[in-house]
Amino acid sequence: MGPTAELAVIGGSGLYALLDGATEHRVDTPYGPPSDAVTIAELAGRRVAFLPRHGRDHRHPPHKIPYRANLWALRSLGVGQVLAPCAVGGLLPELGPGTFVVPDQLIDRTSGRVQTYYDRGAVHVSFADPYCPVGRRTLLTAAARRDVPAVDGGTVVVVEGPRFSTRAESRWFASIGGTVVNMTGHPEAVLARELALCYSSIALVTDHDAGVPGGGSVTQEEVFRVFGENTDRLRGLLLEAVRALPAERDCDCGRALEGITLPFTLP
Ligand code: ADE
Repeated sequence: MGPTAELAVIGGSGLYALLDGATEHRVDTPYGPPSDAVTIAELAGRRVAFLPRHGRDHRHPPHKIPYRANLWALRSLGVGQVLAPCAVGGLLPELGPGTFVVPDQLIDRTSGRVQTYYDRGAVHVSFADPYCPVGRRTLLTAAARRDVPAVDGGTVVVVEGPRFSTRAESRWFASIGGTVVNMTGHPEAVLARELALCYSSIALVTDHDAGVPGGGSVTQEEVFRVFGENTDRLRGLLLEAVRALPAERDCDCGRALEGITLPFTLP
């Protein structure tokens, strides 16, 4: 039997490792290799996988991340629950750098990304609530325990990138209900749902997006710097959440494919 894990963290910009003493595994998938080797370590009696979304050397830009391979690789290891930290820009004045948000909605503004495993047959998953409610609650509780203020709920607007948004785009995202903006939240969330995984995200605001009144122009330097300044808080919060995530899954995420005839067998 190969390596196994029960839950996983997909690390965002600036979070390239999670646990000490992890073993490294090269996993292959029908969609090619994932972003990097998956590392697995035990924490609080549970086997935890970690996958750096952009690769350890940040070689995959947001629009080129092998999203399908990443989620497939995790499921093939036995993962059922995924925590997905990411960097975001704040679309509202009150969401400044250093704020954590546990989103409950997303708006897809990407283009040209493959966003499904199901190119054949009739497989239409429900996606009204893109994030696992148990994962969300666990992240919020973990944040409170660590004394890290986190906003409960928010809508992530996911843009294609790799450029940042214009001021007009940014103002428009806020006007349609967006609270934060990033480049990686989609199709990661929907692919997790298509594999019946629990998926929840914790977003670290690294900047005010360009449309926020008084905001400047977002720069890559700012995003990476603010993320770096908050990595320790984020890591602590994630480890707390991993410890607290219930082993038994009793939400609807695991039932996402019930009653649907799949065109192939899932790993
Ligand atoms: N990631 C972090 N900040 C961002 C922003 N302002 N726009 C898109 N993606 C981001």
